[in-house]
Amino acid sequence: MSELPEIVKIIKITQENPCVKTFFFDKRIQAKPGQFVMAWIPGLDEKPFSLSYVGKETGITVEEKGKFTKRLFQMKEGDKIGIRGPYGNSFGLKANACVVAGGCGIAPLSTLIENLKNPFVILGARSKDRLIFEKRFPNAKITTDDGSFGEKGFVTDVLKNVLRDRKSEVIYTCGPEVMMKKVFEICESHKIGCQASLERYMKCGFGVCGQCEVNGFRVCKEGPVFSSESLREMKGFGGFARLKSGERVSVSEYIQWRCA
Ligand SMILES: Cc1cc2nc3c(=O)[nH]c(=O)nc-3n(C[C@H](O)[C@H](O)[C@H](O)COP(=O)(O)OP(=O)(O)OC[C@H]3O[C@@H](n4cnc5c(N)ncnc54)[C@H](O)[C@@H]3O)c2cc1C
Ligand code: FES
Repeated sequence: MSELPEIVKIIKITQENPCVKTFFFDKRIQAKPGQFVMAWIPGLDEKPFSLSYVGKETGITVEEKGKFTKRLFQMKEGDKIGIRGPYGNSFGLKANACVVAGGCGIAPLSTLIENLKNPFVILGARSKDRLIFEKRFPNAKITTDDGSFGEKGFVTDVLKNVLRDRKSEVIYTCGPEVMMKKVFEICESHKIGCQASLERYMKCGFGVCGQCEVNGFRVCKEGPVFSSESLREMKGFGGFARLKSGERVSVSEYIQWRCA
């Protein structure tokens, strides 16, 4: 694909939970685990989404948040949108892996899990009705904040317990940035490599505009996957992000993870 969007047809939509849907397209995209595409709704905007299905099916798994995703959620099978990409780097595949996903963070991790040999997967959500892909990954250890399904607590609590008994060479993670920061700190204390997929507001998606920059790293180009060496240098990780206007705010102000 080029830097110009290609018009694709939505051929299937699955409702994953009350505020998350997966949109499947009629176009096959060759991509590595962790890469993303820019989705374009003409006359509205363009936004980045990880490819959650690659191979036989091509799909993105989207949480309803603001203007763009609300419009996408109104679309039906047969409707068309623009797609360009794939962009960004990808997860580096390693053995003896543990995967830690929070909420919609399972989207970029799902094709990774399918490419790993027997990873230990920890899948967390606020509550049972907010879980995604628990059926796609039936061996995953599930946690919910309120205990309505699986183990009560945070994915990071389970990770600490897992690392006591299981030798892991790498921890892959995606989810709310406060969660990823905690996962990274656990990795550092155990001297285990971490690979985290970060999100920042994007405009071009391929390294030109500078909108997604964090401490000299462009999330769309050098990322979105960053390993421990980069995360150590990245003071903005878990710290700050830029709004569409370019204004720098704290990560908690930037991301409202919860839909109404
Ligand atoms: C590399 C990458 C991969 C992504 N993959 C997915 C995915 O697989 N599924 C998914 O649901 N979302 C994903 N996102 C986030 C997605 O791009 C935003 O949720 C989307 O742009 C929201 O648009 P909106 O107009 O609906 O909401 P807005 O009204 O723009 O914003 C709603 C909330 O989302 C935050 N937000 C807006 N744009 C972004 C952005 N580009 N990155 C992070 N947060 C943002 C805002 O701060 C605000 O709190 C990804 C982002 C990046 C950078
Ligand atoms: S979005 Fe333009 S440089 Fe990353």
